[in-house]
Amino acid sequence: MVKALICGGSGYAGGELLRILSHHPHVSIEGVTSERSAGKSVAALFPHLRKYSHLLYEPLIPETLAAKGDVFFMALPHGTSQQAVDFFYRQGKWVIDLSADYRLRDAGTYERWYGVRHEHTSTLGQAVYGLPEVYRESLKGTRLIANPGCYPTGALLGLVPLSRAGFLRHSSIFIDAKSGTSGAGRKGDISVSFCEINEGFKAYSVGTHRHTPEIEQELSVLSGVKVVVDFTPHLLPLDRGILSTIYVHPMADVSPESISALYRDAYEKEPFVRVLEYGVLPNIKNVRGTNFCDIGLKFNERTHSLIVITAIDNLVKGASGQAVHNMNLALGFPETTALENSAVFP
Ligand SMILES: NC(=O)c1ccc[n+]([C@@H]2O[C@H](COP(=O)([O-])OP(=O)(O)OC[C@H]3O[C@@H](n4cnc5c(N)ncnc54)[C@H](OP(=O)(O)O)[C@@H]3O)[C@@H](O)[C@H]2O)c1
Repeated sequence: MVKALICGGSGYAGGELLRILSHHPHVSIEGVTSERSAGKSVAALFPHLRKYSHLLYEPLIPETLAAKGDVFFMALPHGTSQQAVDFFYRQGKWVIDLSADYRLRDAGTYERWYGVRHEHTSTLGQAVYGLPEVYRESLKGTRLIANPGCYPTGALLGLVPLSRAGFLRHSSIFIDAKSGTSGAGRKGDISVSFCEINEGFKAYSVGTHRHTPEIEQELSVLSGVKVVVDFTPHLLPLDRGILSTIYVHPMADVSPESISALYRDAYEKEPFVRVLEYGVLPNIKNVRGTNFCDIGLKFNERTHSLIVITAIDNLVKGASGQAVHNMNLALGFPETTALENSAVFP
């Protein structure tokens, strides 16, 4: 058995890690952290996780926690995660960071977009970006994984096949994404309280959302040139799910048949990406609680636009499911372990 700890185990991503890992035959949870709920049991916060009634939250003190485990899932806010990640990594542990602290390869870009200084740049250089569909081979055996952001996961999976084929322009890529409110975390904040969100629908952080440089970084690496995107997130009055509608003008003549074949070939061996029949469009509902990314395709012959629509569950494929997938790859477990039944949740 591998011993795992979840730092930030009282949040939405941490709660989903606990739920998913409760099905993992090779992992035992040895510790969970929370500052505000220290001393309470996991089941007191998450009644559906009765299996963890014995497990009590404790404060995040890396020096105390290190001896308890082999794998550390970091489900903390960005900026808070940095130092603890560095500590556990230097102690020889496996670390999977769900925050943004190790996703951007350039510390200056991180500092510009997040307004936080990166104090651990040598460790930053060791992190592998945890999108298994792109970095599977590098993830095998690695000890430090930067789990992708939720919006970047949906956007990148919709664009990777085009980029790999050389069909993606370097600009004029429009990503119009809508997320359920769990994307904002479990902490109380008036802007995501029920009455503010219910019956409403709005865009936010237009042109300034912090996931923009992450999407651009990965598309630029794949394309070999600097790629820029227009990314507009929206807040849906739903608890979970992200639907991304992406508009591009491919750099080649494409047809419904050729574009379908491109996406099918790109993902045919992927356990968690489902390319739908041409013209069938994804729905957040169909991926809820699962680690799947569903992709729908439509070519508008009148405007020559290709519209790619992806649906993920932000808390699973966009966070904790992907983190468990990454752990499976890093530690050599079968990739889909604990994720096959991830649709079963309250
Ligand atoms: N929600 C998503 O859809 C999603 C998707 C992908 C990635 N992520 C990323 O995953 C991370 C966790 O997200 P979340 O949605 O689970 O957030 P959350 O619900 O707000 O939970 C945050 C967790 O971090 C702990 N924490 C907060 N401040 C802390 C501090 N100063 N020291 C120690 N622990 C602290 C909280 O503990 P307390 O009990 O003490 O508050 C809680 O356990 C974030 O970096 C987020 O950007 C989230």
